[in-house]
Amino acid sequence: MLPKFSSKAFLAPMAGVSDPALRLQCKRAGAGLVVTEFTSIHSIVAKQAQLQEKMKTIQEFIEYSDEERPLSVQLFGSDLVALEKAAKIVEPFFDIIDYNMGCPAPHITQQMAGGALLQEINLTQQIFSTLVNAVKKPVTLKIRSGVTDANRLLFRDIAEIAEDEGIKMITLHPRTVSQGYSGTADRTLIKELKEISNLPIVGNGDITTPEDAKTMLDDTGCDYVMIGRGAMGNPFLFEQINDYLKTGSYPEYSFRDKIDSFFEYLHLTRQYKIKFANIKGQAMRFTRGMRGGSKMRSEISVSKDIGELERIMNDAYK
Ligand SMILES: Cc1cc2nc3c(=O)[nH]c(=O)nc-3n(C[C@H](O)[C@H](O)[C@H](O)COP(=O)(O)O)c2cc1C
Repeated sequence: MLPKFSSKAFLAPMAGVSDPALRLQCKRAGAGLVVTEFTSIHSIVAKQAQLQEKMKTIQEFIEYSDEERPLSVQLFGSDLVALEKAAKIVEPFFDIIDYNMGCPAPHITQQMAGGALLQEINLTQQIFSTLVNAVKKPVTLKIRSGVTDANRLLFRDIAEIAEDEGIKMITLHPRTVSQGYSGTADRTLIKELKEISNLPIVGNGDITTPEDAKTMLDDTGCDYVMIGRGAMGNPFLFEQINDYLKTGSYPEYSFRDKIDSFFEYLHLTRQYKIKFANIKGQAMRFTRGMRGGSKMRSEISVSKDIGELERIMNDAYK
């Protein structure tokens, strides 16, 4: 069974972005579910021996905190033996196991993983069955609509197989793999998926405001919405969406609130081994839309350490 979600708005998995510090901020701001960055099943299996000998804990490979729960771990990779092993290894630590069938990055699709799997119906069926039989925790799925424009409706078949095999929820980002991030997410496909599937459906794509979230829910009938780029450096969005869905209005956040929020992020990163390059990327995003933001970003881009980032952000208070 799926856990109960405290909000209809979820934080999307984003490699290099949805680190444990940002996830915790989004959770505290009211996200109903947060998902780890995608993780290779082979990298998990490679750590199996160390985990069994208790020399290492899962936290050394996939960092998280209990405050993030319910927490979903996202896996990618299609080797069935490795998939079964990896799912069993991560199961005790996470509340949901999510499977990635959407990633358009060539280094992922070339290894028959991510979005490339959408056109491999037989393998997909085996993957779902392997995962669902390997673990007792709920298995969910994140997909794009198809691979190319010619097969942009592949999600229909995949959703049917998913339901038959015991997948518990589907997130649809209605762009094709070959589209990357171009064009707009075609929400009519989310509506269609909701109509043909009995599973809870999460609508994803191009939500950047509380109004967008409400329109997605209203127009498609989806059960939840998932937000990626709109939540980058902007954990407030979850609180705003929750307020808007409840009362029809929401508070705006000031420039100072945004800097405070970055310092909170920075504080949280101290508990984790997050790469400086990723922290720098977050600093760039927290300054988006700020007065003087572009000057700050040019300084951030050449900063060398956390101390420098703190100085740049502190100067912004003046
Ligand atoms: C930097 C970045 C990294 C991403 N990494 C992942 C990932 O690890 N797993 C995944 O399923 N999707 C990943 N995505 C896709 C997002 O989860 C989401 O589906 C997509 O960005 C569309 O939603 P949005 O318009 O709200 O950003 C990533 C997106 C971005 C921008």
